[in-house]
Formats: sequence, structure tokens, C-alpha cells
Amino acid sequence: ATAQVGVTIDAGKPGPVISRYVYGQFAEHLGTGIYGGLWVGPDSTIPNTRGWRNDVVAALKALHVPLVRWPGGCFADQYHWRDGIGPRAQRPVRINTNWGGVDEDNAVGTHEFFDLVEQLGADAYVNGNLGTGTVREMSEWIEYMTADGTSSLARLRARNGHPAPYKVAFFGIGNEAWGCGGNMRPEQYADAYRRYATFLHPGGDTQFIAAGGHDEDTSWTDYLSQHIGGWGVRAHGISFHYYTSPGADKNGKYGAAGFDESRWIHTLSETRRMEGFIAANVAKLDAHDPQKKLMFAVDEWGTWYDAEEGSRPGFLQQQNSLRDALVAALNFNIFHAHADRVRMTSIAQMVNVLQAMVRTDGARMVLTPTYHVFRMYVPFQDAVSVPVTLAHNPLYTFGTDAIPAVSASAARGKDGKLYLALVNTNPRAAADVTVDVSGTAARGAAGSVLTAAAMDAHNTFAAPDAVRPAPFQAAARDGGLVLSLPAKSVVVVTVQE
Ligand code: AHR
Repeated sequence: ATAQVGVTIDAGKPGPVISRYVYGQFAEHLGTGIYGGLWVGPDSTIPNTRGWRNDVVAALKALHVPLVRWPGGCFADQYHWRDGIGPRAQRPVRINTNWGGVDEDNAVGTHEFFDLVEQLGADAYVNGNLGTGTVREMSEWIEYMTADGTSSLARLRARNGHPAPYKVAFFGIGNEAWGCGGNMRPEQYADAYRRYATFLHPGGDTQFIAAGGHDEDTSWTDYLSQHIGGWGVRAHGISFHYYTSPGADKNGKYGAAGFDESRWIHTLSETRRMEGFIAANVAKLDAHDPQKKLMFAVDEWGTWYDAEEGSRPGFLQQQNSLRDALVAALNFNIFHAHADRVRMTSIAQMVNVLQAMVRTDGARMVLTPTYHVFRMYVPFQDAVSVPVTLAHNPLYTFGTDAIPAVSASAARGKDGKLYLALVNTNPRAAADVTVDVSGTAARGAAGSVLTAAAMDAHNTFAAPDAVRPAPFQAAARDGGLVLSLPAKSVVVVTVQE
């Protein structure tokens, strides 16, 4: 039966701005996330601009990618920046021990990365090496990238092709210090953070991100928010990682496609845990940083399934279905509700790895359902959040899982228009959503809907448009709106006022 859902939005009560950086992306030296998927080199027969694929860059530009985090992840703590500057043919070859043990020829280094972000119109989030690097190495990388003037490192950057300093919007000091970044305790990492940060002197405005916790563990946020200050030490945020798992099916598989409804609802239920994780960490931050100086940076999130059959171990290649699209939209609605603290995130990862926007195979490229949701949500970048209450929202249940049928979010975009995003989590029932709007009069709404016949519908190189947005209209009723959401759908509309 169709669910009857009641939503109220108060357009007259603007909330915090949803930073565009909430829509950030992560590109690691991992599998074909960079090599092959984005970088093919200037001599490739695949059309490229100074080595970066034209097709993939053009597709990503439509997402208005606000920031790219690079070079890892776990890879960041084994990356030595001097390996990646100077003539490419002379760069050393290392072993990527985290990801498949493959050769890393350092073809993509600092200059290539900044060329990519410039081509995308994005900002840079560079992740430094605290695990195997030194304080000196990190501080010299910052100088190399950002120093204006005539220091030897600034001149070296100029000789390598870029006289002007680069803008490093965010800089991460290590990654997953509790795991691949060095198996540290929060106490040990906080000590290391203070020591490293003391010696980082960026030439421009750079926000420093401390490597924080994950999942239900709030101890990192709790400890770091009290212990990463000091003389000359700057900290602007604490990171957090949470990956959504579908849980094992009856065959012990965590499949990205070919799953049943129990894995559908369980995945959505698991991804909704992000709300509680953010709230628990924000409570720690509010206790120690009531002025909200520190952002809570969810700089790795998304789905993590069994790797695609036949793919190379360690490459984290997986299919991306309509279920992933709903995962993305549910997380966006959660991030919007915490816009005052969650001022930056980056999904793992941009191309070919985990919950990707784009998948490639040689010269071919396909856009994923997740890509389409990122595109539908572009108006929320730098929009002013507007309070949304789900006055009536029945549960969608299956097996032992139960989640709210609908998730909603609203904001006034930079263009002055009011936007509303809705997710219907139930794969079997439509939802009729009655929206009471105060603070303005709604005369209707129009936008797009993303849905498909199957829960695991996905795009392939043979059928690249199996899942793509379609036009959507909503009617006005009593100064509000009525929206008929199809089963398992994401809808984003502009409210006509
Ligand atoms: O995104 C893949 C990996 O997941 C990252 O390198 C690491 O930080 C996390 O464990």
C-alpha cells in the first residue's frame, strides 16, 4: 500500500549553510582510481588533457566537484612527495603495498594533481604522510606547494612548471592513525599531531584536518578535540570514516548487485547509522569546542561490498546500483541536518573504487546511479538549510530491519530558489508526501526522479542509461505540495513560489 507521509518545511527559518565541501570526492592511488580511470598519460590514444581523461573530467565537471582529497587514504602514509616531482621518466618506482602490491611509478605527483583540480574547478585536499614521513618532509611539502617568494623550494616548484603557489584548501595530517596510518592510540596521535602541525607554515589559507575515529568509536573525537591545540598549532577539523556494509547474505556474500530485499533494507539501515555516529561525535565536540571552531569532516564514506568477480585483489572494484544512489541521498540528508559541524566530506571514491561516480574500462566510461544523485543535489552546495520535520512517517520494515519510509531535506540555494530532496526507501510501495510549507507559498514543484524497476539496477557499458534521472512534477495543494514518490526513489525538486 502507498505510504502516507507528512512533511513540514519552514522556509522562513533559515539554518546554517550547507558547505559545498560536503560534496567532496576522494581519489586515492588505489587500483584504477587514478591510473587508467582518470590518468592515462599525455601519450595515450584516449583523449586527454595533459594526461587526464577528457571524458571523465567532463563528466565530473557537471558535478561541480568542490574538492578532491588525494593521494590517500592508507596510501597517504606511505607517500613521499619528492618521488612525484620532476621529469616523469626519472621518478622512482615504488610498491603500493596497501593496494595490490602493484608498481607505483609516480606519474601522478603534486603538479599533475593540481592540474586535475584546476581542470575540475575544484579545491585541493592534500593528505600528508605522518605514518612513514618526517616532520621535515611534511613541512617542506607544504612549503613547496604554497610558498610565494624565492625560497629554494618555491624556485624548485617554478622550475618544475608552476611559478605561482598552489592553493591547498585542506591538509590532512595522517590518515586512520588507529589502523593503516600506524596503529596508534589517540594519545600518541595527538602528540604527533601537535609536533607535526607546529612546523607547517602554509603560504595561504589552509585548514588542517586531524585524523580521527570511525564507526561507533567516539574516543578519537573526544580526545583529539581536547589535545590538538598548543603554541603555533592549528587545527580546523577532525576526520571521521564510516563505510556502509550490506551485511552477509545467506551465502556469506556482500554483493554489490544480485541481492535480495533483506540486503537492500539492511544496507539502508546500516547507512542511516551515520546519523547517530555524527550526533555522538558532535556531542563530544560541543562539550570541548562549543564555538564550533572544529569541523567534523567525514572524509571517507560510502558502500563497501565484495570486490567484483575477476577484479584484481586490493583494487576495491564494485558495481554501483540504485541502492547506492539511495545510500548517497540518505547520507546527504543526514549531512545537511548537521551542516553547522559537518562542513566537509569526501565520498570513497571518485572513479572505479568503492562507491564511485564513474566507472571505466579502457577507453569506455559509464556514469553510476551515485553520479546521478550527486548531480541532482548540486543546488544544495552552499545553500542555506531550511528546517524540515517529518510529521508523519511510517516505517518500512522487512525481516528484522525497520527504517523510516521517507527521508527529506530542504534548502534555499545560492540562486534564491527553494529546493526539496526526498528519498523513498521502500522498494515495493510508493509514498504520497504532503508537504506543508510555511514562510512562503508553494505553487508547485518540478525537478527529477531517480528510480528503476530492480533494486540492483545499474548502468553498464552496454546499457549506460539503465538508471538515469527522469523529469518529475508535483502539484500544489493549500499553499503546500503533494508529491507521489515511486517505490525506491530519490526526488529533488525546485519549489515554485
Ligand atoms: O578508501 C579505501 C581505504 O579505506 C582508505 O585508503 C583507508 O583510509 C580506508 O580504510
